Amino acid sequence: MKANFAYAVLLVAVLLSGAVVSISSNAPIETVDPRIEALLAEMTLAEKIGQMTLIEKNSIDPADVTDYAIGGILSGGGGYPRENTPEGWADMVNGYQQAALETRLGIPMIYGVDAVHGHNNVYGAVIFPHNVGLGAANNPELMTRIGEVTAAEMIGTGIYWNYGPAVSVPQDIRWGRTYEGYSEDTAIVSSLSSAYLRGLQQADLAAPDTVLATVKHFVADGGTRWGSSKTGNYQIDQGVARGDMNLLRRVHLPPYEVAIENGAQSVMISFSSWNYVKMHGNRELITDVLKTELGFDGFIVADWGGVDQISLSYYESVVRAINAGIDMNMVPYDYKTFIETLTIAVEAGDVPMERIDDAVRNILKLKLALGLFEQPFSNPDYLAEIGSEAHREVARDAVRQSLVLLKNENSVLPLSADIDEIFVAGKAADDIGIQSGGWTIEWQGRPGDITPGTTILEGIQATVSADTAVYYDKFGHFDDITDAPSTCIAVVGEMPYAEGFGDDPDLELAARDKRMLRRLAEVCDTVTVLLISGRPMILNDLFAQWDGLVAVWLPGTEGQGVADVLFGDYPFTGTLPYTWPHAVDQLPFEFETLSSEDVLFPRGFGLTE
Ligand code: BGC
Ligand code: BGC
Repeated sequence: MKANFAYAVLLVAVLLSGAVVSISSNAPIETVDPRIEALLAEMTLAEKIGQMTLIEKNSIDPADVTDYAIGGILSGGGGYPRENTPEGWADMVNGYQQAALETRLGIPMIYGVDAVHGHNNVYGAVIFPHNVGLGAANNPELMTRIGEVTAAEMIGTGIYWNYGPAVSVPQDIRWGRTYEGYSEDTAIVSSLSSAYLRGLQQADLAAPDTVLATVKHFVADGGTRWGSSKTGNYQIDQGVARGDMNLLRRVHLPPYEVAIENGAQSVMISFSSWNYVKMHGNRELITDVLKTELGFDGFIVADWGGVDQISLSYYESVVRAINAGIDMNMVPYDYKTFIETLTIAVEAGDVPMERIDDAVRNILKLKLALGLFEQPFSNPDYLAEIGSEAHREVARDAVRQSLVLLKNENSVLPLSADIDEIFVAGKAADDIGIQSGGWTIEWQGRPGDITPGTTILEGIQATVSADTAVYYDKFGHFDDITDAPSTCIAVVGEMPYAEGFGDDPDLELAARDKRMLRRLAEVCDTVTVLLISGRPMILNDLFAQWDGLVAVWLPGTEGQGVADVLFGDYPFTGTLPYTWPHAVDQLPFEFETLSSEDVLFPRGFGLTE
């Protein structure tokens, strides 16, 4: 009791003595803060290692957060509380925070989440299009607005740390994370990701309406080769990227430089390898290039168990990761073993004490800059913002801008809202889960009514005139209505997936969808296909049979935005963020020598009418 009181007094003194630390988007955070140095001087090795430990919330109780002085907690994909409501989230996160504040030094924990297309694990949050669609929209102002909205929804749940933007530059669309990247083009990735980061962080991280962005996954996660992954049944995700420093500097590194110029303060390391060296143990790239050469002065976080992949020996993995420059380890489960291992490594001199102090300094600096010491809990004023109409309006606008018109024979589009009848086919036409894709409520996403929103079918129904008959059949059987349907809209594409589960060797439409499309092409007057997918797909001879084709990507909860453009209330403005192959054996493209004649559609393609 007495000791606790003494430390509380010390802490208050320390807090009061410090100059207010705030960062603006381009000014570096003050490096030596008296409050940090005072805290460091008080901390035991156990408390320091606790700060470097990041645990997924289902693996730890609040009591152990206190006992082990844990520095960070996260929700992985699908890491929602028992009661998946904004209030349930706020209670859960505040509970962990309370436990952190009950430690001897009362250092707040930082809670992280993948709010990668809105605050997507939260039931009722607005879900934005995945980054592939935002790459098609290619509008930096829109990205900043999306960042601001996402930050506001996070703050209501007490979370001030987002694991985004992904600045991956996917070079092979067979990769299951292609949709998490904005484009195969480095310049587009740099411009959109930094605009989004500015929206999350704005000018002052300590301001009540801002959160910390995480630029990921360092580096060249988008450059891995098919067949090089050693993780489970993955093929390309978490695999090996190869090349020289020129390739790295030209394709994969620039988004980090631009993010740093824009105030990036947290970087996540990639599961992948660069020239067969696991990035989590890659000191040259993490410390020499990212920290020293690019001047990154924030803190570096590991990916989910990524440290464990460095070596068969856990001890060696931990030593190499921390010495490579990782500040916080996303363990994510077994914190006791991590803490014990790093303690032994420090005591044995295999990890220098200076490296531990450096890591803790980097972490505390951000906790201070974020204002966590002053405002550690959720801000209930923001609860009502989660999934609000105003936020949904921003997402709907993003959907409109993301659509890419790829074929429009005889100007089949836009449709008239006064049309007599319209025949809508395909399971994906009326499914919030499918149109939202992976990283929606669940890590892998899930078909079905998983969160509130407007499906594409509902959007069509809400747009057409009162006299229009909208017929819907998920298998495209309209025989009981007519033998000759007039205007047909088929909504087909990919089922939800995330990460390596989406590594796909052929990118073909499902056999059932192909059969349906062939049948519709025979009976309908016109067929317009809306493709729901995280990337270009192989269309083969089917393409020739369609009158219209629109790449809808993974639009999220605001399906009304699709109908807004389909019926001509808004124009088609999106352009392809990825090159569209004729056949899968063209992959991976050699972009240097690729000619636009070799492909179905070059990057940048998009009709306006
Ligand atoms: C992913 C990261 C993500 C982390 C936490 C990992 O599997 O690679 O992108 O931020 O999990 O959910
Ligand atoms: C988590 C994800 C994480 C993945 C890594 C899942 O169980 O929910 O967030 O990215 O594991 O493999």
